[in-house]
Amino acid sequence: MTSRLAETSAPGRVNLIGEHTDYSGGLVLPVALDCGVAVRWQPEPAAIRLRSAEFPETVELAADGTPRSELAGWVRYPAAVAQLLHELGRPAAGLDGTISSTVPIGTGLSSSAALTVAVALALCRAAEFELPRIELAHVAQEAEHRAVGVPVGLMDPAASLLARRDHALLLDCGTEEHRLVPLPPRLAIVVLDSGVRHALEHSGYAARRAELERALPCLGGARPSAVTVEAAEAAALAAGVDEVARRRLRHVVSENERVRACVRALEAPAGPDRKALGALFRAGHESLRDDFEVSIPELDLLVELAGAAGAVAARMTGGGFGGSVVALVDRHAAEKFAADVTAAYVARTGRAGTGRVCATADAAA
Ligand code: GLA
Repeated sequence: MTSRLAETSAPGRVNLIGEHTDYSGGLVLPVALDCGVAVRWQPEPAAIRLRSAEFPETVELAADGTPRSELAGWVRYPAAVAQLLHELGRPAAGLDGTISSTVPIGTGLSSSAALTVAVALALCRAAEFELPRIELAHVAQEAEHRAVGVPVGLMDPAASLLARRDHALLLDCGTEEHRLVPLPPRLAIVVLDSGVRHALEHSGYAARRAELERALPCLGGARPSAVTVEAAEAAALAAGVDEVARRRLRHVVSENERVRACVRALEAPAGPDRKALGALFRAGHESLRDDFEVSIPELDLLVELAGAAGAVAARMTGGGFGGSVVALVDRHAAEKFAADVTAAYVARTGRAGTGRVCATADAAA
């Protein structure tokens, strides 16, 4: 029996820089991590049935993706994926499987994209239906809109489908051009989890996006990644854009510039420009805190503690309102760094923070 099980899996991600830029066609620089979601499944003639190793609800759909019962909780994600693939012409083919995840939920490592990508791959394989990876990323993105109404961008599923071990993925979410940026072997990625859980479904994510979109028309069709901070500010003032929307725009325009500068710093011919990386991550964090207003005091504290403990660079990562800080740290000192920062954070806040030296991974298989 067991030998007949097929498996598809998809990694979580951590974003190095380029936050809240994806849904206005901007630049992002995520890394796929060695944690993810796996679906072990076998063909089943008449139904799509998925259980979770972690949650009680089971997904039960017709082979074409039509729901057979009320959908609630995590099952909304696979159901939305199945319906979208059906609309794209996936033949009705069932499967019976179990989903398991090693991506901690609500920590900013994109557990939901890992889930939608792993399920999409299983459904495609079960029906011998193929889509280009970037299209699959759009399916996963759209599934999140449909499942929980959160207007996320392309970054998370694209990272899960296109990234490579030991590299970051530089993706232009407007043109969909992408390339791999080698990570400096001497720097480790440390993820510091604040222990403050977020669900984008209940956070200010959609509100932030709407606020930014109030400002975008002042660019006259140009993407925020194609203008300078000064030009954007002048255009916003001339168009009478309100102060909040102007700050949201300033974050996004400056963040796109920071992504480009960060890639230059990582690829500097003489080796990574540590000073530049530190300054860019710090400026990115401050911009998310002050202009985009998605940080929380716990993330600000973690960034401060990471700096004091010798991080080369540290900033909040992901959508915000909780979740994690990403730090670049000298590899030889990374384990001690993670333990020291966590101990200091727990002592200061009493929260269940954790620190983890992360290995990078290849995209979904
Ligand atoms: C979440 C979303 C992404 C992106 C980030 C912020 O992770 O899923 O699309 O917008 O927030 O950069």
